[in-house]
Amino acid sequence: MAKAKTVLIFGANGFIGQHLVERILKEKNWRVIANDLGDRMLAKHRKNPRFEFHKGDIRNLKLIKKLVAKSDVVVPLAGIATPRTYIENPLRVFEIDFEANLVIVRLCAKLKKRVIWPSTSEVYGMSTDTVFHPETSNLVMGPINKMRWIYAAGKQLMDRVVTAYGRDGLDYTIFRPFNWIGYGQDNLHDTSGTARVLTQFLGNILRGKNLELVDGGSNRRSFTHIDDCTGALIKIIENKGGIASGKIYNIGNPRNNHSIKELATAALKLATSYPYFRDRAKKVKVVSVSSGKHYGEAYQDMINRTPYITNTMKDLKWKPKINLREALKRTYAGYVAQLEKEKRG
Ligand code: UGA
Repeated sequence: MAKAKTVLIFGANGFIGQHLVERILKEKNWRVIANDLGDRMLAKHRKNPRFEFHKGDIRNLKLIKKLVAKSDVVVPLAGIATPRTYIENPLRVFEIDFEANLVIVRLCAKLKKRVIWPSTSEVYGMSTDTVFHPETSNLVMGPINKMRWIYAAGKQLMDRVVTAYGRDGLDYTIFRPFNWIGYGQDNLHDTSGTARVLTQFLGNILRGKNLELVDGGSNRRSFTHIDDCTGALIKIIENKGGIASGKIYNIGNPRNNHSIKELATAALKLATSYPYFRDRAKKVKVVSVSSGKHYGEAYQDMINRTPYITNTMKDLKWKPKINLREALKRTYAGYVAQLEKEKRG
């Protein structure tokens, strides 16, 4: 058996983190050091001898130094990834996603730790390519008054910084999530409108509120279920023969390319199969709203987003398998289980 690694995950209580921790502990003999502001979604691992949790802010230098020093591989997942926040609180996005994470990246370079950096599909921005390629696509962003791009700009700069450190010996892989979806992505009960589109839709159905299609919902995304995604992340962390070192991988499912309108229709149709959702779903309508009204004038959107994944599939011997309907079913099932638990108290 391969030598057991110690994997440090910042933001482990978040959407990607919770699923990744679960899968590592289930399928690998690796040790996991987890950090976050809380451990609600990780509580079930508390007694696992290969798991340790350290509560704290990633801006606590003493804490992150201690944790990075103890690890082999670092996955810095702590960050803000909700478009409404890019517009409403851009400096917080910059401070957390870029500034705080830069300290972690530099520590990895200094202490010679492998870093798995989460970039984003957003770096391709409004690229007109039909398929976004990590090595050939231009990265196209809007003007400064469209504050939405602060997230993509910060991620793009960090991609460049990580790659530059790579020239000086940093062992890294950059991955770009393409609309990963699943249970636990955002808070279902949050009514602030900050959640990403699927949680927003499911939360609205639960509350009997209409689903709002921004500018008619014709924009398209390639939705990728988190179980497919963690499969790719495990392979990247494993890094057999060093194959993933120094690479950029899109992680997405091009076969799940759907418009937001199609997503809304599919989610609403499926709602009739699930307790807690089915009754309210009957009065929910799908309506259109302007992006200015929904997000404000600093919003700008990309029409379509499809990942090139041939290199990801070949290097990692990985393939996304979960179609949209199955992804929605798994997500509903996760939330129904959560609602059951909440009901029991
Ligand atoms: C996302 C987020 O920036 C990040 O989570 C991530 O890095 C990246 O893209 C990704 O996951 O690939 P976006 O795809 O715009 O951005 O995320 P959503 O908020 O889920 O919106 C998707 C689409 O649904 C947008 O066109 C948006 O305008 C639309 N939308 C959203 C609606 O039509 N109605 C809503 O109620 C919410």
